[in-house]
Amino acid sequence: MKENKFEFNYRVYDSIEELTEGDRWLLSEAREVTEQAYAPYSNFQVGAVAKLANGEIVAGSNQENASFPVGLCAERVLLASISSLFPKIPISTIAISYKSENHKSDHPISPCGICRQALQEFEQRVDNPVQLILGGLTGPVYVIDSARNLLPLAFTSEELR
Ligand code: THU
Repeated sequence: MKENKFEFNYRVYDSIEELTEGDRWLLSEAREVTEQAYAPYSNFQVGAVAKLANGEIVAGSNQENASFPVGLCAERVLLASISSLFPKIPISTIAISYKSENHKSDHPISPCGICRQALQEFEQRVDNPVQLILGGLTGPVYVIDSARNLLPLAFTSEELR
């Protein structure tokens, strides 16, 4: 028997002010994009904004439905838009923020399990890591070098070859 260990490093900044100018801009866009969410059921509005390797900027937000399982997270709305608008172009960075009627938006949230799966396959497809910048409307910011770090032992397309 041998024991394996999974660990990864990520950076924690005290506030958006500590980020580089480009990252600061991207996170502030993600904060604004929360306004475009359609989240009347959870009142939890998520905004995600990507900078692509070709410099294009694409935004996504969560889109809910009266039939709850139909709803989509901001991250997967964003990935579907990017694949449709700019097929095969890698994503350099995604900034994610949120706003809630019921809770303070003063700390980062990280993508749900389904979105982690979608993000890691996008990375694998175009063979390029996606940097994630996670932050609320205020408070600390996490910067993670690759979405893959968030899903150890992922099930991947390799298994289906
Ligand atoms: N949501 C996202 O858009 N992204 C996440 O990473 C977590 C959750 C959405 C789904 C749902 O519309 C609302 O937030 C509450 O779960």
